[in-house]
Amino acid sequence: MTVDLSTAFGRLRLKNPIGTASGTFGYGLEFAEYLPLAALGAISVKGLSRRPCHGNPPPRICETDAGMLNAIGLQNVGVDAFLADKLPELARLGATVIANVWGDTENDYVEVVERIGAERRIAAIEMNVSCPNVVRGGMIFGNNPDALAGLVKRVRAATRHPLIVKLSPNVTDIVASARAAVDAGADALSLINTLVGLAIDIERREPKIGFTTGGLSGPAIRPIALRMVWEVRTALPKVPIFGMGGIETVEHVVEFLIAGANAVQIGTANFRDPSLAGRLVEELSTWCSAHGVARVSDLVGTLKTRPRPDHFFS
Ligand SMILES: Cc1cc2nc3c(=O)[nH]c(=O)nc-3n(C[C@H](O)[C@H](O)[C@H](O)COP(=O)(O)O)c2cc1C
Repeated sequence: MTVDLSTAFGRLRLKNPIGTASGTFGYGLEFAEYLPLAALGAISVKGLSRRPCHGNPPPRICETDAGMLNAIGLQNVGVDAFLADKLPELARLGATVIANVWGDTENDYVEVVERIGAERRIAAIEMNVSCPNVVRGGMIFGNNPDALAGLVKRVRAATRHPLIVKLSPNVTDIVASARAAVDAGADALSLINTLVGLAIDIERREPKIGFTTGGLSGPAIRPIALRMVWEVRTALPKVPIFGMGGIETVEHVVEFLIAGANAVQIGTANFRDPSLAGRLVEELSTWCSAHGVARVSDLVGTLKTRPRPDHFFS
């Protein structure tokens, strides 16, 4: 059985729904020896800022029981160096490139997207409004729907690229954030970013991460990510969603699609297996074929839920 993996994602047409998550896949080029970048639906590159950024002092990552904690602090080469030194090679390799961007202020975000301008080798812009690992920056916007709406409006006015807003899971009401972003002009959403966590070295009585707290990613967060994707899909049936958080296997990909993601991004799992994302494209096709699914898009948002009782007495 031939399976159609192509994925309509707002104005974008992805060749398949498997992408890689920002900050876990470098600028893509570092992974070119492990998998054909052109085989992926999309690559979201490390978060770009208007100037190069050195990030936080070490230690910046540590392992946890079912994932990792990181506080890289958005280290990156800066948008100009990315456009000059990385993008041409990515384009030559046929990668579908999503530029992940961040800033400390609204003006910073606007400046980055203005520098990207009408660059045709970039398929979409993904705004990170949700990084927990910088003192100022994204989280201020990600945690406050009004601030988020103001920011998205300004960035929307500054770019004609498809605009994806990457939401923070460090909120009580993810649907409020999603609505604010979409009402302000976002074409699509990515969810989720990392959850704020703390790991302690008990001998030293010090945090294991130099920044004290870090962002938790990996399998530990998958149920939370799935719940948030499902909540946003239920509230906003039409908006294109990139789902991510702890995906390691093709079954996890299928879970996210059923929960309502149109496409997914592979994150922390890339560190353990740099060729995983490419293999998942093939495995998704095999899975669909074995389950009689002719078009992968037929899986999206098909979760069958039972009515919940108002009260439960045991
Ligand atoms: C080391 C590291 C760096 C990250 N850097 C970024 C970043 O620059 N921009 C961004 O939007 N998300 C960043 N993220 C978040 C991931 O893109 C992803 O949303 C999150 O890790 C959840 O997916 P996962 O559990 O599959 O890793 C980073 C995550 C990790 C682990």
